[in-house]
Amino acid sequence: MTTTAPENFARPLVRQARREDLLAIYRIEQASFDQPWPFTAFESYVGEPGFLVAADSTVVGYVVADVIPTHARDLGHIKDLAVHESRRGEGIGAMLLVNALSVLNSTNVDSVKLEVRESNDAAIQLYRKYGFEHRWRNPEYYSDGEDALVLVREF
Ligand SMILES: CC(C)(COP(=O)(O)OP(=O)(O)OC[C@H]1O[C@@H](n2cnc3c(N)ncnc32)[C@H](O)[C@@H]1OP(=O)(O)O)[C@@H](O)C(=O)NCCC(=O)NCCS
Repeated sequence: MTTTAPENFARPLVRQARREDLLAIYRIEQASFDQPWPFTAFESYVGEPGFLVAADSTVVGYVVADVIPTHARDLGHIKDLAVHESRRGEGIGAMLLVNALSVLNSTNVDSVKLEVRESNDAAIQLYRKYGFEHRWRNPEYYSDGEDALVLVREF
């Protein structure tokens, strides 16, 4: 697949999400997932270093990453990632993921985990490309009964 941006689009930049981005983020979330996060969930992450958007004239994608404290080393968590349907295949998802990993790498974490639907080939390919490996399966993790694959990337 190509990651070259169509010529009529500026290359989006990745920056921290702001309150005024939330409506655009929420619309992408609703269009991307059968069980979208509620608006208030995004609101609660504004100001967090791992809540990033890719934006040119408008928001075209976002990622939410945070740190789960554990009794041993803290664990990074990619909690949500989506790109506007019309802008997929341009390298934006990869850009968001790389930036989120960089934020997590600057904290006290050794590894990062995420859950992905076992049928979500595009996302699984993306995560594999950036070093995530399948570690275990959470049966019926999603409310429609689909299993989640748990992928982990070590730093
Ligand atoms: C998954 C998603 C974020 C990928 O974003 P994207 O901007 O289209 O991805 P990129 O263009 O950065 O692609 C990077 C890599 O991901 C993989 N990839 C992306 N789309 C793919 C597809 N349709 N089929 C197979 N692999 C794909 C490829 O390895 C690609 O690298 P390549 O271009 O060198 O082949 C996007 O498809 C999306 O928003 N999906 C709906 C929401 C979702 O499922 N989020 C993940 C939840 S866990």
